Amino acid sequence: MVMRTYDGSAGDVDHAGVDHAGVGHGGVGPAYTAFRRPDERIAHVIAQALGGARTVLNVGAGTGSYEIAAHAITAVEPSLAMRARRPARLATAIDAVAEDLPFADGQFDAAMTLFSVHQWSDVEAGLREMRRVTRGPVAVLTCDPARVRDFWLYEYAPDVLEAEARRYPSLDRLTTALGGTTAVEPVPVPLDCTDGFNEAYYGRPELLLNPAVRQACSAWSFIDDRARQDFDTSLRRALGSGAWDEAFGHLRNRPTYDGSLVLLRATP
Ligand SMILES: C[S@@+](CC[C@H](N)C(=O)[O-])C[C@H]1O[C@@H](n2cnc3c(N)ncnc32)[C@H](O)[C@@H]1O
Repeated sequence: MVMRTYDGSAGDVDHAGVDHAGVGHGGVGPAYTAFRRPDERIAHVIAQALGGARTVLNVGAGTGSYEIAAHAITAVEPSLAMRARRPARLATAIDAVAEDLPFADGQFDAAMTLFSVHQWSDVEAGLREMRRVTRGPVAVLTCDPARVRDFWLYEYAPDVLEAEARRYPSLDRLTTALGGTTAVEPVPVPLDCTDGFNEAYYGRPELLLNPAVRQACSAWSFIDDRARQDFDTSLRRALGSGAWDEAFGHLRNRPTYDGSLVLLRATP
């Protein structure tokens, strides 16, 4: 059974209050905003995918990471807590879900959804809706579930990565739902990546010992306190003994990591 005793702080955990999207709105804490800051190199990849678009729809917009001033952004976000944490300079997010977008056909030049599709109740319906309301490219930043377990973290927290691999829709599912032509590109993760999903720490394992860092990545909410304690003990021990560095120390100096992060760019 899925354990959710912990505040995953990524907008999708079960809490006392659950809004119409089934999205918990009690759990977005300061950890999310502190450790999930947009990374400028990933921002560049996303901006390239959106091309010269002016009007851009951001679905599952959260606190507005990767929304840039060059675009006229319309943000959709079902979690009240996420909407409340959007900086004042950004557009107020509309309370809606991907699966039922309140927009006309072809209303936007481009659309994006970032680190979000794995939380949707109906991925196919959500992507169909994004395609319907968008004239140009639809960009989807997500993780390839076939590659999630390749990360060294699997040795120390297998249940966390199993939960991630189960949640992420396969790339085939995404491309089929998007229709048209879809290009899939791996997104290299920089060594000092500021957007704290798990692989962002590929060369900085010590940071994953910080509970606040883990709290900013919702997959950690799927294991219980005991499992988190076991992870902490085993990683701490491996770092202290040198075992981690012997196996993975080469990653400490690798400027980028090709992990499971991918960007899909779909055109009609
Ligand atoms: C991990 S957060 C990512 C937020 C933001 N895109 C970012 O990159 O920081 C995932 C977001 O998807 C939203 N979400 C969950 N289910 C959704 C749905 N069915 N439709 C739209 N957004 C959804 C959550 O509320 C949450 O804000």
